[in-house]
Amino acid sequence: MMAQEQSQARLLEGKQVADAIKQEVAREVAQLRDQHGVTPCLTAVLVVDDPASAVYVRNKVRACAEVGINSQKIDLPASTTSAELLSVVQRLKSNDDVDGILVQLPLPKQIDDSQIIEAIDPAKDVDAFHPTNVGYLAMGRPRFVPCTPAGIIELLDRNQIAIAGANACVVGRSQIVGRPVASLLLQRHATVTICHSKTRDLPSVTRQADILIAAIGRPGFIRGDFIKPGATVVDVGVNQLSNVDQAREFFGAESNRRIEAIEKRGYTLIGDVHPAEADLVAGYRTPVPGGVGLLTVAMLMRNTLQAAKWRRNL
Ligand code: GUN
Repeated sequence: MMAQEQSQARLLEGKQVADAIKQEVAREVAQLRDQHGVTPCLTAVLVVDDPASAVYVRNKVRACAEVGINSQKIDLPASTTSAELLSVVQRLKSNDDVDGILVQLPLPKQIDDSQIIEAIDPAKDVDAFHPTNVGYLAMGRPRFVPCTPAGIIELLDRNQIAIAGANACVVGRSQIVGRPVASLLLQRHATVTICHSKTRDLPSVTRQADILIAAIGRPGFIRGDFIKPGATVVDVGVNQLSNVDQAREFFGAESNRRIEAIEKRGYTLIGDVHPAEADLVAGYRTPVPGGVGLLTVAMLMRNTLQAAKWRRNL
């Protein structure tokens, strides 16, 4: 086919898939209540520091209400110590009414993340960050699966994007996204490459990918020449952009709407992918916002339901 310049990537919207998953969860939650008198309960802990985290936690609590899961939110001050947070987590661990424990990351720098995560009961670890759950996933025997990586796989599957045999490239090696999504893609028989800040000639590696996952936290970092024509580009980044000139450059036809948002709220959200350039090369692209983030919340609902069932051997 000619005219690559004029092609436009199809957007993989998260909403439809997230709504479908939430409906499935809601149906099962109702069944669990009717047949066993059990309503799952999620407790989210927010150490108030970063405004974006507050929004994420609010969205998670709201989704619980949508699907019929009970929820509770514990807000702690930014000055909370490791010992104080540890005692909150230990209390939730021994509270039999709590099925899922979620401690929103990142935590303030005086708190040792690993110590907190390791204190969560693996059976209530709906984020799947505990070493026990990380280990099961690495072995190819997943129990809980981290929400964003699981959501990415659902988004690909429900849009009929083939994973088996595909060249998948993950840019970023975080505990939350990069490493676990690489494990899941491998388990689904993709040929997986993991790239990071020390990767030599990054574009030459990413250009081999049929499925390119960007999870680095750098606004618009993945440019058109990083992308294989027709590839599926999954953008996991959530970055705030307040520069109007940059917004014009990144967003192309969408830039007026984005600039209005900057003028109104002080920023607009941009992922790790340069949207205007990617759209000229990619076959599919997930938008930011409205892409992967919605799936994260939907998969958290599924994990919380799963926790409630597993804890009761249902
Ligand atoms: N921060 C960014 N993503 C996540 C997530 O999936 N869970 C938690 N707990 N914190 C996060």
